[in-house]
Amino acid sequence: MSKISSDCKGNIFSSEYFFVLLTRIIPKEKQDYKQDGQNMAFSFLTQELAIDLGTANTVIFQNDQIVLDEPSIVAIDNNTGKCIALGQKAKLMHERVNPGIKTIRPLRDGVIADFNAAEMMIRGFIKQVNSKHRSLFNPNLRIVVGIPSGSTEVEIRAVRDSSEHAGGRDVFLIYEPMAAALGIGLDVEAPKGNMVVDIGGGTTEIAVISLGGIVEQDSIRTAGDVFTSDIQYYLKQQHNIKVGEITAEKIKIAVGAVIPELDDEPEPFIARGPNLMTAHPVDATITYQEIAHCLDKSVAKIESSVLHVLEQTPPELYSDIVENGIFLSGGGALLRGLDKRLSEKVNIPFHVAEDPLRAVARGTCIALKNAANYSFLMR
Ligand SMILES: Nc1ncnc2c1ncn2[C@@H]1O[C@H](COP(=O)(O)OP(=O)(O)OP(=O)(O)O)[C@@H](O)[C@H]1O
Ligand SMILES: [Mg+2]
Repeated sequence: MSKISSDCKGNIFSSEYFFVLLTRIIPKEKQDYKQDGQNMAFSFLTQELAIDLGTANTVIFQNDQIVLDEPSIVAIDNNTGKCIALGQKAKLMHERVNPGIKTIRPLRDGVIADFNAAEMMIRGFIKQVNSKHRSLFNPNLRIVVGIPSGSTEVEIRAVRDSSEHAGGRDVFLIYEPMAAALGIGLDVEAPKGNMVVDIGGGTTEIAVISLGGIVEQDSIRTAGDVFTSDIQYYLKQQHNIKVGEITAEKIKIAVGAVIPELDDEPEPFIARGPNLMTAHPVDATITYQEIAHCLDKSVAKIESSVLHVLEQTPPELYSDIVENGIFLSGGGALLRGLDKRLSEKVNIPFHVAEDPLRAVARGTCIALKNAANYSFLMR
């Protein structure tokens, strides 16, 4: 246990001490300054991480490479309060714990719901990234973290504080739809309307972007987690079966759809669980048509939110969007038939991003590389 828990702690040496020491040892002309005025730092002592701190998954990019992609979950020892597992390991324990252990998803609805657990998780993930190339001291951490566009000041503060407590020295924040647009490869600074819909685990973020800013946006709490609980509710009502969050998510991924007729039909999913009346184990065969039916109301909420944002969009930007189409990112974009359903409803073509689960993280990484030029990055 102690071996695992050490994964979640930080390094004991502070880089600031070495930084000050080295500024004295190395001649000034050899010091490698960053463009960013006040933040003179040696590049070899600075580590840059782009973090998509999601409700469901945390993705970290470093030097254009994915260095971490794990579920946003921590497992904590109830007696000691220490972290015993993170990410995938903790997800395996989720809903399977004994009274001595609890699993926590530190983010709910896209924002930090448990500050301590969030800090523990960020610190642990950063430690995991660094475990591949161990050094004597922690480098100066310069990070960009994505936040939902509808975040309140308090919620923004929570992300900033958690990131700083977890070791971030320079912390920048970026609105997730802006990061998604960058990650999809859209020219966010052009005088042109771009629209993205990012359907994550906790929130669906809808935004119209032009000239490096968000012109119109909406952020609703109907996303992957709600789809999963829709499935749990449906199985209870229609099949008399009780399934946990993990199984319901598996069903969503295996046969998740939002239209009743697909060209490429997935095999039905056999769900197993206790019958609610008898407690006997039962199997139920779940088809994608059933899931399309059970997700209908939630998907309709996303549709009306998209229409609402379009309604508010200035006409010139609106016509750019009609021409370019609307881009879908986030894990929810993988629901079968979603682009087709939305295109038919809204009458504008929808395109699913190439790697929807990582679009925000990729965009966050692009923003980090251009931190000095992007005015939309918040400090
Ligand atoms: N193939 C799939 N089909 C449907 N849903 C999927 C699929 N793969 C992943 N998901 C869902 O996507 C969600 C995770 O997406 P993503 O990683 O974009 O969210 P997040 O960034 O962690 O959340 P948020 O942005 O709301 O904070 C989960 O609810 C997951 O169940
Ligand atoms: Mg996300």
